[in-house]
Amino acid sequence: MELTRLRGFRDLIGADARAMSLVEERARAIFDRYSIKEIRIPVLERAQLYQRSSGETSDVVEKQMYTFTDRDEGETVVALRPEGTPGVVRAYIEAGLDRTDPEQRLFYSGPMFRRERPQKGRYRQFYQFGVEVFGRPDASCDAELLIMIDELCRDLKVPFTMEINSIGDQKCRPAFREALVKWGRAHWDELDEDCHNRIDRNPLRLLDCKRDAKVTESAPNSLDFLCDECRAHFDTVKELLTAAGVQYLVNPRMVRGLDYYTRTAFEVMAGGLGAQSTVVAGGRYDGLVETMGGAAVAGIGFAIGVDRMALALEAAGALPAATPDAAIISMGAAAARHAVVVARVLRGANLNIEMLSPERKMKTLLARASKIGARFALIIGDDELARGVVQLRDLKQSTQREVAEAEAAAAIAEARG
Ligand code: HAM
Repeated sequence: MELTRLRGFRDLIGADARAMSLVEERARAIFDRYSIKEIRIPVLERAQLYQRSSGETSDVVEKQMYTFTDRDEGETVVALRPEGTPGVVRAYIEAGLDRTDPEQRLFYSGPMFRRERPQKGRYRQFYQFGVEVFGRPDASCDAELLIMIDELCRDLKVPFTMEINSIGDQKCRPAFREALVKWGRAHWDELDEDCHNRIDRNPLRLLDCKRDAKVTESAPNSLDFLCDECRAHFDTVKELLTAAGVQYLVNPRMVRGLDYYTRTAFEVMAGGLGAQSTVVAGGRYDGLVETMGGAAVAGIGFAIGVDRMALALEAAGALPAATPDAAIISMGAAAARHAVVVARVLRGANLNIEMLSPERKMKTLLARASKIGARFALIIGDDELARGVVQLRDLKQSTQREVAEAEAAAAIAEARG
């Protein structure tokens, strides 16, 4: 086949797609309870939007954006969104909310695009389910979001660890950045070319140097540079998490790859995923709305990597089965017509019913019913039709009994428990 899909782009069929939907459904249900409202934003934006927010020197902007020139828009360079935060901030400012109603709790969901080297858990089109909260500079908001993430991971039954850090603000971060530059120059020979570039362009990312994880052990640590306000903020976040029974680790080496972060940064890792184990990531971005031309409003948010969370769910065996309660088998033209009515009644009783093709042999159909994982085969022939009964074959226990058609739903539901 010549017209295959592109590298890093996936087709999700059956259980894999269902795992993604399940993550999204559960997240949506929990976000509802935290009174977070939905926002839908475009997939295509001006490339400049990301340069101004995610940062010129972030990997996302520097190497990973899918951009093209839109002739209809006066040769504007546009980009497929690599993340959701900049678009949400733009929409928030564009709707005037920063001035009229600054306190907002918004969630978004949908595909993001990054030209990354594909591997397990890293795709060129992937899905995020994200939250952005505006107008809440207080530490209790950081804690509330982390408590919500903890609740979601527990609800999904995915084993996880949560790491948090504070990377300071515009007041105290310059000293940390300077210390990193100094450290980078002193350890020049141990760093690769990528990291040599980071020394001047994006020194915080020196902590992500990959060549040898040991190298960064001697690097300065963000927590040692926090000003009093940032320290107090971080202490409160930790206290509130402890009070809420949320388990977390403080990782002073975590800096995050996007430029807009201030103070609290966090990542959640799940088991069974290999190298790409971060399933949720985010942090505070108090200066971003203002940088993008809005009022001085605080911001904080995170995104769930839905693809990775779905993989974690499957790896943990936590994806509930979605097999039919019964497969309907009919023999003969009149029974086939009646089977449609029976199926409708059973589905009305909230049962999962799959109709099998009426044009096959009984043996083939029973094999098919087993293959799709149906608990029962419900068999209707002309004789059953005349007597108002059905044959109910329990495919798990290999038993069969006749029940009145009107009793079938209750009999199937009872076995499901
Ligand atoms: P991020 O760390 O770039 O942050 O992405 C968040 C999550 O998206 C990652 O932890 C991962 O689960 C998933 N993800 C990222 N890239 C890929 C990929 N290539 N393939 C599969 N999954 C991926 C952000 O995007 C920020 N906007 C999060 C945020 C919201 N911060 C504040 N508000």
